[in-house]
Amino acid sequence: MQSEKIWFDGELIDYEDMKVHVLTHALHYGSGVFEGIRAYETDRGPGVFHLSDHVARLRRSAEQYFMQIPFSDEHIGEAIHETIAANKLPSCYIRPLVFRGAGEMGVNPLNCPVHTMIAVWKWGAYLGDEAIQNGIRCMISSWRRIGPNMIPATAKASGQYLNSQLAKMEALKHGYDEAILLNEAGLIADGSGENVFAVMKGKLYTPPISASCLPGITRHAVMEMAETIGIETVERELTRAELYFADEVFLTGTAAEVTPVASLDDHHIGKGPITQQIQDIFFATVHGKHELSKTYLEYPKGA
Ligand SMILES: Cc1ncc(COP(=O)(O)O)c(C=O)c1O
Repeated sequence: MQSEKIWFDGELIDYEDMKVHVLTHALHYGSGVFEGIRAYETDRGPGVFHLSDHVARLRRSAEQYFMQIPFSDEHIGEAIHETIAANKLPSCYIRPLVFRGAGEMGVNPLNCPVHTMIAVWKWGAYLGDEAIQNGIRCMISSWRRIGPNMIPATAKASGQYLNSQLAKMEALKHGYDEAILLNEAGLIADGSGENVFAVMKGKLYTPPISASCLPGITRHAVMEMAETIGIETVERELTRAELYFADEVFLTGTAAEVTPVASLDDHHIGKGPITQQIQDIFFATVHGKHELSKTYLEYPKGA
């Protein structure tokens, strides 16, 4: 994750010189909001996948917690391109974080300064290349996904990832690759860092946002891609047993991209032809080789 420069409150700072105070509010109370974005190598240079949508979600997440980002969306977008260029990376993962800094201690965050940082690093397949090819072993977590009246899943806030961490550690300690969480009603919500899709009789099914899943940008893109190749997506509640017996199951996310689920709770599922079709259009698009690339990838002005 080492890189050359990190953008912090409007300035590019050397990686080694980047410091925050130990009384940073976000360290104690999880008061940060962030994004995970990818830039892909293309003939035109690094193309950032749905940059504007990620910046818009970052602002919505911040507003949820009454954090005012002291930079416009356009400024953040340009800063992201600038940070990628400063680190000379043809492709990378991008992590903007807006957080409450050191000010007053205590639960009330409102008197703490708000900082903005952007880091980038080289990152291959989140769950490994093998995972993209052949799929991963998942388990249903014993931890429930945070509910809408506990912590809104629609914002991407640092603190809520304790819920994801519990589920992920449980899965790893039990010998699985990833966890899928149920919501308070016992229905499928999402993975520890991914949205969930099932393929049944040629259609895609994915839980609605009201099931406590993150409104994933990859989720939305995959639904549009599926439509482009004539596959319908139905947003409806799903039970765990429906996933066991689905024709195919896959996970989507900026980090996980499109990852097939080989098995869930030891029920074999396996990668199938529709997941392959979705992966084909997804990877063609992100590498600038599809009609959709024109609108899905964003470049710095003049590139
Ligand atoms: C819990 C959760 N669900 C879904 C996703 C997928 O969202 P996106 O496609 O916007 O990366 C993520 C990743 O950010 C996540 O953390």
